[in-house]
Amino acid sequence: MTSKIKYVGKIFKIPFPFTDLSTKKARPALAISEPDEYGDMEFLFITTNKMGTGRDNIEIPEDILPIDSVLHLSKRYLLNKSIIMKELGEVPLSFLDKVLRKLTFRHVSSFYQNIHLPKLTRPFVPGESRINYAGRVYDEKEMVSLVDSALDFWLTAGRFESEFVKEFSEFLGVKYVITTNSGSSANLLAISALTSYKLGDRRLIPGDEVITVAAGFPTTVAPIIQNNLVPVFVDIELRTYNADVKQLEKAISEKTKAIFLAHTLGIPFNLDKVMELAQKYKLWVIEDNCDALGAKWNGKYTGTLGHIGTSSFYPAHHLTMGEGGAVITNDAQLKQIITSFRDWGRDCWCDPGKDDTCGKRFGWQLGTLPFGYDHKFVYSHLGYNLKITDMQAAVGVAQLGKLPEFIKKRQENWQRLYNGLKNFEKFFILPEVPPEAESSPFGFVLTIKDGAPFDRKKITEFLEDRKIQTRTVFAGNIIRQPAFTGGNISYRIVEKLENTDKVMTDTFWIGVYPGMITGMIEFVLKSFEEFIMNVNKKDSSLRSE
Ligand SMILES: Cc1ncc(COP(=O)(O)O)c(C=O)c1O
Repeated sequence: MTSKIKYVGKIFKIPFPFTDLSTKKARPALAISEPDEYGDMEFLFITTNKMGTGRDNIEIPEDILPIDSVLHLSKRYLLNKSIIMKELGEVPLSFLDKVLRKLTFRHVSSFYQNIHLPKLTRPFVPGESRINYAGRVYDEKEMVSLVDSALDFWLTAGRFESEFVKEFSEFLGVKYVITTNSGSSANLLAISALTSYKLGDRRLIPGDEVITVAAGFPTTVAPIIQNNLVPVFVDIELRTYNADVKQLEKAISEKTKAIFLAHTLGIPFNLDKVMELAQKYKLWVIEDNCDALGAKWNGKYTGTLGHIGTSSFYPAHHLTMGEGGAVITNDAQLKQIITSFRDWGRDCWCDPGKDDTCGKRFGWQLGTLPFGYDHKFVYSHLGYNLKITDMQAAVGVAQLGKLPEFIKKRQENWQRLYNGLKNFEKFFILPEVPPEAESSPFGFVLTIKDGAPFDRKKITEFLEDRKIQTRTVFAGNIIRQPAFTGGNISYRIVEKLENTDKVMTDTFWIGVYPGMITGMIEFVLKSFEEFIMNVNKKDSSLRSE
């Protein structure tokens, strides 16, 4: 392809008009478009006056112009090519890249400020505005970062993914972060990795048991079954909605190889007890941290204490990439196995677009393949392709800077709801955070007490009518879901799943996410108050048929 570019990137001397059109002055200017059919083209003003250098001004590289000069990105003019006095030089492509990117970012910021922001800052109207259970919280930084990656057009994991991995591992204080395309994929990778023959005797084989709970998200349990392993369900405690630790040891059999639990809705499960049992019985521990990013146990981030942790970056979660997830570990061997499962099962660990990272691409003897078989196409596992794109990572990088603030806001919203809803403890079991823990709440969870004069359907319908979104604790009791009842699935339960069933029928949760604006929490509390007032009036219609 021959380039048609004749003007863009060149500096011309032109009589540059003053903005009040009073006069003009001969100045160098950078062409940033080709002339249109009328000969009109866009220029950016160049000056030697560095006094005005702000964030939108860039220094012209040395040796192009006789005097040190700066380009003013905000002084952009449409002028006719006929006014060009002479050509003064040309900027390198890398400089043009920087200029055109920055101009694009200015438009993106303007788009955010004028199109997104007015919608995001619409005042809250009680009963009309939706109070979501969760939602993405972003500003122009996320949009600029996303467009930055789009302009690279690298598409697969690249510089933004590397930056995300570095910063996320620094945030959590872990050695390895393996990004993936969802939290469900992260869970699938975590358990699949433990089936690797590379783990010798410690690997999980079909029929091995994995202890978990039935009150949670389905993709904590599904990958256990998808790997031909047997989930063993223990009941949960009300208030924390996490595994009842008294049942954990009872659940262990000869076949038990792992414990795989989520920190339910951001409230950490008892990591002391789980890790103690894991040590005693040589079990793997996977922490599904998808709903709890930023929570702590004894001062350390959840997700980093077990052998493997997982994160989800779906918009409802603490940090978003749209879709996305991560697996976290401090174990170098697990990191390698997880990466292999993520990347088609291959043995090679080159980043996308790279060759020969190991330095002996044609020097390996593996399996019964011929010596030197191209390492890029050697497969040590039967894996998947669960990688993320650089566009997802670009959003994640911008979100990471906001994470501490997001966590703080969730905690504050949770506390305000707690303080208000404490008045209705007669009817609700309120959530409880163990003393060793700091929660990073995903939502505010409530269980209707036995004997209350209303049921979940009534109260959630009342709240939803007022545009207050409610959610159940996901699958409720997963073994009662059609996937189980119709699916001929092997599983074991330790004792009756009484609290799990209670959660299935009587528990719901509402939002605490950082996008909640002034007036929302007050309205939620007021709505509970009104509902309870009706209860106290002994409104007989408060129980569903
Ligand atoms: C505890 C838990 N694990 C896993 C997931 C799955 O994450 P994703 O939606 O990114 O697949 C979720 C989703 O909300 C979740 O709540």
